[in-house]
Amino acid sequence: MSTEYHSDILVIGSGVSGLSLALKAAQHAKVTLITKKNKVDTATNLAQGGIAAVLSVEDSVEDHIQDTLISGDGLCNAEVVRIVTTEGPARVRELMDFGVRFQMHPNGQDFELGMEGGHSARRVAHASDLTGKEIERVLLEQTAAHANIEILENHLAVDLLIASKAGTRGSREGVKDRCLGAYVLNRTTGQVEIRRALVTVLCTGGCGKVYLYTTNPDIATGDGVAMAYRAGAKVANLEFIQFHPTCFFNPHIKNFLISEAVRGEGAVLLNQAGEPFMKQYDPRGDLATRDAVARGIDAEMKTSGSDCVYLDISHKPAKFIKNRFPNIYETCKRYGVDITQEPIPVVPAAHYMCGGVLVDYWGQSSLIGLMALGETSCTGLHGANRLASNSLLEAVVYAHRAAEKMPETLAALRRLPKCGPIQAWKSGGAATLEEGILVNHNWDGIRRLMWDYVGIVRRTKRLQLMRERLDWLLKEIHTHFYDYLLTPDLVELRNLAVVAELIVHSATWRHESRGLHYTLDYPEKDDTNFLVDTILHNPQGEESLGPVIG
Ligand code: SIN
Repeated sequence: MSTEYHSDILVIGSGVSGLSLALKAAQHAKVTLITKKNKVDTATNLAQGGIAAVLSVEDSVEDHIQDTLISGDGLCNAEVVRIVTTEGPARVRELMDFGVRFQMHPNGQDFELGMEGGHSARRVAHASDLTGKEIERVLLEQTAAHANIEILENHLAVDLLIASKAGTRGSREGVKDRCLGAYVLNRTTGQVEIRRALVTVLCTGGCGKVYLYTTNPDIATGDGVAMAYRAGAKVANLEFIQFHPTCFFNPHIKNFLISEAVRGEGAVLLNQAGEPFMKQYDPRGDLATRDAVARGIDAEMKTSGSDCVYLDISHKPAKFIKNRFPNIYETCKRYGVDITQEPIPVVPAAHYMCGGVLVDYWGQSSLIGLMALGETSCTGLHGANRLASNSLLEAVVYAHRAAEKMPETLAALRRLPKCGPIQAWKSGGAATLEEGILVNHNWDGIRRLMWDYVGIVRRTKRLQLMRERLDWLLKEIHTHFYDYLLTPDLVELRNLAVVAELIVHSATWRHESRGLHYTLDYPEKDDTNFLVDTILHNPQGEESLGPVIG
């Protein structure tokens, strides 16, 4: 028997998108926000650089638009770019009104703006190098104080409740299917609960854990994209995985990012011989867009056979470095690198999913009752390569837009015919999966294979090999999933495998090189055939892949 709960809005994920949406939508409705671990286990909390917006008289929205379009390499939705860059400054000021302490100029009026790759002006508002943590702190305070918001930690969404699959009358002939909430594993009780809602909003972040090396936190297992795809919603552009050029290379600390803002303040990438190399790969040098810098580093490491390259900011005054990058300075120091004196060993690592659940201008997916925001979504802002620090911006702009439209959305959903009772979650043979090794082995296998076969530089042959391995792995995971009692690891493994399959499928389809998708077999850009989004859709909600709609 599953316990059933009801709310108007079910938000899944407690990063900047989920918290912002919850806070604003709570003016109109009751919100339940679930998060699979602790509230602060989010990618937002780790964001260092900041939030890009036009906040200086020396900058212009037109320039921000141009920089975003250039970075996106032809695939941005120009209307979305205009919306986000135009509405962004008001959202940043609103965060300040909520209590976010951005670094300000000594005059107290102007923002102290940072520079990052691909930007033609200083436009990154930041709180030293702990911007995400500061935003998360304030939004958590605000949401905790709101009577209409319930936040539940240790609640892991397993699958979406879909009218046609949940034993309801939702998919009668001619009636569109819809999302009714989610099956949620309560990690404390071990029970799978039915969490019904008029609107379900996926804010589950990205999928960095699909790769062996990533800057993402452990929660980034692509849950939102995998659930949405299984439920029959459209997903798009998943071949465009952004590798951050500079992750700290140290065996004792995983995932530690060296912010792009460090290069923005003059740091230089050096090879093993201590020579700058980026200009050989891109005339923009160290401040080229991320796709170009990550590829430059990859090429340099492959040519020299070295394990890492170096990022040097030691020519700047120590006082400036410690003040501007206190977190990076302290963390590197703890692991034996004094960045005021010596270069930092760095490697590229998976960082951001530019595609996601396909949504409209208000965050609505192709499935009624299902929305997606932030990294989980594909709005069209990022195209084939996200411009640095545009992600927090997209999150707050779309959360605001989704909340503004929420009264209308809720009213429309209330007018739909009522759906009947939902079947309790059926656990397989109900034996506990004691063989943790089965999960761990597959988890490690996927991550290593994805790193080796579907990384920064790709080949058709390697993609094919990956598809074959994934076919086999997915079958095994499927069997485990329905044979055993659910565990969080198994839920995440299943999602990871689905997202890996979607990435590989999308990358295989794109016979060109554009933005973050670079393949040696098709090294040129092909605007005639591929100036389109890669949309994957499985209308039957089956576990096998649907067709690519280019
Ligand atoms: C960084 O600080 O380099 C990360 C910012 C981003 O991913 O936009």
